[in-house]
Amino acid sequence: MPAEIDIARVRDDTPGSHEVIHLNNAGAALMPRQVLEATVGHLQLEAMIGGYEAADQAEAQIDATYDAIARLIGSAPDEIAIVENATRAFDMAFYAIPFKPGDRILTSVAEYASNVISYYQVARKTGALVEVVPNDEHGQLSIEALRNMIDDRVRLIALSHIPTNGGLVQPVAEIGKVAREANVLFLLDACQSVGQLPIDVGTIGCDMLSATSRKFLRGPRGVGFLYVRKDLAQQLEPPLLDLHAALWTSIDRYEIRPDTRRFENWEANVAGKIGMGVAAEYALEIGIEAGWKRIQLLADGLRARIEAIPGGQIYDLGVNRCGIVSFTIPGYDPAEVMERMAEHRINVRSSTVFSTRFDMTARGIDHLVRASVHYYNTDDELDRMAAVLRTMAKDRA
Ligand SMILES: Cc1ncc(COP(=O)(O)O)c(C=O)c1O
Repeated sequence: MPAEIDIARVRDDTPGSHEVIHLNNAGAALMPRQVLEATVGHLQLEAMIGGYEAADQAEAQIDATYDAIARLIGSAPDEIAIVENATRAFDMAFYAIPFKPGDRILTSVAEYASNVISYYQVARKTGALVEVVPNDEHGQLSIEALRNMIDDRVRLIALSHIPTNGGLVQPVAEIGKVAREANVLFLLDACQSVGQLPIDVGTIGCDMLSATSRKFLRGPRGVGFLYVRKDLAQQLEPPLLDLHAALWTSIDRYEIRPDTRRFENWEANVAGKIGMGVAAEYALEIGIEAGWKRIQLLADGLRARIEAIPGGQIYDLGVNRCGIVSFTIPGYDPAEVMERMAEHRINVRSSTVFSTRFDMTARGIDHLVRASVHYYNTDDELDRMAAVLRTMAKDRA
């Protein structure tokens, strides 16, 4: 059994938790003070001694970021590239794959818009095909259907571990097993899962994984990372190169770095990088298992509270559901729910068909409210949110 989260301590570490009821952790979570201090501290150092000089001085802290991320996902530090966000991380890997006409890209129904847009762009340019693996009876990717779709033209399996707007957790270890048996590349978008639940790239069996700092990892905005398995990184040519990713070795020659940092570029948000490292260390110290257990309990509690409201409807799919709760309340547009919550200093978001078109079209939904809990949220906060929703529902019953 994982140790319990010390809720008083984590809230004490989280200044924002005393200001707002933050249920937008799938958007951007509240940073712990340790992350804030490390990030702001580096910006202050830049202002005092110069940006390049500050980076020189912070070299050990920057290295520590790669170490912490590697420990968080079970990789080696030189299998990590730090980039601007999860989308850029995903794209640097995806656009590096040399697709041929007829190659098949398999993805999930719950796929995130930016990923799908890149699949179709590449498909149009190369003649590759984009195919959606159907869901099983629980609404998660069907392993049986995936197995049946595998043939020697499948070049890539790429999907989101957790969708942007729902509680679904895809069965990624089973997907990884199919990918390995078929010798197919597996790119996992772990944007909503890193920091939320235990991730081990070896157990999952993915070759590449992308994530962001600001969501469940609780780091600053504008930074993210990409994992690429060492031997694969050496075979993949990044779609963009600069003097950090490659070395200009003679007048018309360059050599690409051998490690995963070939997917990075030179100029970076150093304060953000350091902040993300501290966030990863903080997550490891708090305990991912313990956090995950609490997130699931809180999310199930929120679902029960919403279902107790007449007409309150939950849309989360899958066998094991995560901290993202998607719902509607009768008589209200999701955008209005978000506004009304904001009046009570409760942060939730709404999500539209533009984020997950395959899924929403299939289910006939065009707009949802997304409330997303983190381990620092409390039952009292959920009670307060439910009370506002109950009053709203009564007003328009
Ligand atoms: C499932 C999923 N993938 C990828 C992304 C993109 O992440 P970023 O905004 O860091 O590029 C998001 C952002 O919401 C997401 O929810």
